[in-house]
Amino acid sequence: MLVNNKNYRTVWMQDNFVYLINQQLLPHKFEIYKSSNHLETADAIKTMIVRGAPAIGATGAFGMAQAALEFTGKDFENFKIHLRKAEQVLKSTRPTANDLSFGIDFVMRKTLDNFDADIAKKYSVGAANEYADWNADLCKSIGEHGNKLIGENHSILTHCNAGALACVDFGTALSPIRVAHYSKKNIFVYVDETRPRNQGASLTAWELSQENINHSIIADNAAGFFMKLGKIDIVIVGADRIAMNGDVANKIGTYEKAVLAKENNIPFYVAAPLSTFDINSKTGSDIPIEERHEDEILYMHGMDESGEVKKFRISPRESSAKNPAFDVTPAKYITGIITEKGVIKPITEEIERFVKNE
Ligand code: MRU
Repeated sequence: MLVNNKNYRTVWMQDNFVYLINQQLLPHKFEIYKSSNHLETADAIKTMIVRGAPAIGATGAFGMAQAALEFTGKDFENFKIHLRKAEQVLKSTRPTANDLSFGIDFVMRKTLDNFDADIAKKYSVGAANEYADWNADLCKSIGEHGNKLIGENHSILTHCNAGALACVDFGTALSPIRVAHYSKKNIFVYVDETRPRNQGASLTAWELSQENINHSIIADNAAGFFMKLGKIDIVIVGADRIAMNGDVANKIGTYEKAVLAKENNIPFYVAAPLSTFDINSKTGSDIPIEERHEDEILYMHGMDESGEVKKFRISPRESSAKNPAFDVTPAKYITGIITEKGVIKPITEEIERFVKNE
């Protein structure tokens, strides 16, 4: 992704360190966070220095490689025990995104294929890099397939941040938008602010600004207004986990946008790599939904006029809040799922055909 005209990935590894674009500080400050060990990497996922399903999958993969490198003994059985502990720590950071365990399992499999701890350590780093490169390639393909759905002069609505920041590069929902922009289509993006953490207003708007893509941030509850006015031609969102019947878990608020899109006859697409499908979730009700701290609702963060970033309370001291981080959009509201293999229908037979061919 372009940042101040320089190319960056959201996450990468060099020597024993994992580097992350610090998403807690955007859009006010662009800073790289450096994690020295797998526990710090797990903490970066938990505290959302890095977030977005494919990005945490790749970060989890690099965290496993760090854990492998941290082992100082020679005994392969002890090495396995050490890795299993790290796997648990990394997997328990966030429950909803399927990619987190997908990325970790990928590195575990390739590492434990060896029978010598020193050789296995090298394989773990190679596997994590392979996983990250693979994810970047998948997202690029999603962009090429999704671009075919975007017409000249189209306005696209997106929710949360499913951009390069949420992946290793390119993004899922933002990848077709990038490709449409690079192919010189005249497009406009409506960006849902995405309360409570404002990933739309702070991260998606920042990514689009970096690439000079025309956009406006809208309040979460304004999407229906613009749809009814005929201002939105297509909705594209990302996904954290997709059940085998096509139900999609994504950032809270996605469900209501899908219902509104159907009501207004607007196509509603989900963009996600096939690694987002969970063969163990038959329907959306099998998907675990993360409940986050109530302070994310009760307080907001922002920069004041003097340039200082502050946290301030917006609700009565006596009030409490409920904060589910994701919701499930039933398959019947989804026009199609844009994957690296093309656009697929949200129906079990088609999903099984694509996922099992992987
Ligand atoms: O809580 P977050 O910011 O990790 O949630 C992110 C989303 O819901 C994204 O839409 C999803 O992970 C898809 S990212 C390509």
